[in-house]
Amino acid sequence: ESTLASRIGSQAATPPQSVKGIGNKVAKPDYSESKIVLAMVGLPARGKSYLSNKLEVYLKWLEYDVKVFNVGQLRRTRARQKAKLSGIKEDHTASWFSHDNPEATESRERLAQDSLEMLINWLKEGGNVGIHDATNSTRSRRASIEERVSKEKGISLIFLESICNDPAIIAANVALKISSGDPDYKDTSPETAKQDFLRRISAYEKVYETITEPHLSYLRIVNVGSEVTMSRINGYLSSRIAFYLMNLHLKPRSIYLSRHGESQFNVEGKIGGDSLLSPRGMQYAEALPALVTDNIGDAPLTVWTSTLRRTIQTAHNLPYPKLTWKSLDELDAGVCDGMTYEQAYPDDFANRDEDKFNYRYRGGESYRDVVVRLEPVIMELERQENIIIIGHQAILRCLYAYFHYLPQADLPYIKIPLHTVIKLTPKAYGCDEERYALPIQAVDTHRPKPKAAQSVVVPNHGREYYAVEPVSSPIPVPSKN
Ligand code: F6P
Repeated sequence: ESTLASRIGSQAATPPQSVKGIGNKVAKPDYSESKIVLAMVGLPARGKSYLSNKLEVYLKWLEYDVKVFNVGQLRRTRARQKAKLSGIKEDHTASWFSHDNPEATESRERLAQDSLEMLINWLKEGGNVGIHDATNSTRSRRASIEERVSKEKGISLIFLESICNDPAIIAANVALKISSGDPDYKDTSPETAKQDFLRRISAYEKVYETITEPHLSYLRIVNVGSEVTMSRINGYLSSRIAFYLMNLHLKPRSIYLSRHGESQFNVEGKIGGDSLLSPRGMQYAEALPALVTDNIGDAPLTVWTSTLRRTIQTAHNLPYPKLTWKSLDELDAGVCDGMTYEQAYPDDFANRDEDKFNYRYRGGESYRDVVVRLEPVIMELERQENIIIIGHQAILRCLYAYFHYLPQADLPYIKIPLHTVIKLTPKAYGCDEERYALPIQAVDTHRPKPKAAQSVVVPNHGREYYAVEPVSSPIPVPSKN
């Protein structure tokens, strides 16, 4: 069997002396010159927070420092502080959002300005993309943002307008606001909350001005996915943001992740290679179509595999169109390809665990390298509908971490067992997950993170609506009888 190790001959016979060392580490890219204020524009319930959240996850995946400055959160924090100090509870029902209420209008302007100041300070301290999550729905508000940002050298400004005229999406957004335990409505009945929120929306509708200012840099998105307008977007990061937003859609769909069936190398405890499936792996390949078709019904589905034989073999019987991606090939173990873990790190293979995300195999890749090479896959996954990926342990960990927004340090330890299909269904905030484990035995290739290297997982990064609890242990597939 041709492995990278056997192709490069004598080098492969000498495993690396130690996995430690600067040469094996990969540095974070230097994005210090990238500084953008991304100011959202749009009525309430038009998906601004959804877009902010998607962008934040995507840009963080690319290792930009991104932060959402949500003016609604600032308003609530200030109101709580005021109530504590003076005992006066501010009324934030719909009338507070009416532009006929001068006192409240002034307060709202001040909050937006303060939030922008905090954002600019954060950019100056090293941040890359600060998202000003507010309605910014009038020309005069946008002019004041523009004036303030123009005083800062090296910071650019882009407006991102979200227009939504699909009543079903608006109704879903309103329902989400009420049902997600939004702090504005925590002591209010759902019906009263809904009526109040609809009145708040109409207060904004009275003064709303879509972006027409010809000198501004802006992106306008209509009904997420149906239309994108761009004006004066230039520069690498801005174009990347625009390209990402152009690929988003809200159509319901699922992404299925499965590792290839158990391979001969899996049985032998070897890493990498291009081995074929073991007899149990073949059984999985035979059983997979029934599981998938039962789940997806008549909906269209496309199968993506890597170029390695074990994934192509596993996908062979799936009755759907197939696409082979080089980018989906397993993490390249370089000179260790074809070895067992013990052969690869004779003295100290625990050292890889000191910083597994950054550890780069000699002549091969690190998890960080894999994340970078998967970017086109992520972009295409955003654009597509139902996809099943027949992939590899490291690759699927990276994709899974993107959809569940898991930290880099935990990513290389995510459990992606063999003979298990993971169904991810993207939702407005986060992703639903189901796991189907087929009852065909396989070796366990997961090596847990040693105690010393464990970190605390904080998946919500301080946001109010972000709650992701990934399922970590396999759920047995329900019996069909
Ligand atoms: O063991 C199977 C495998 O897919 C190897 O080919 C690959 O090197 C490894 O998993 C990646 O997992 P880890 O990063 O935990 O070694």
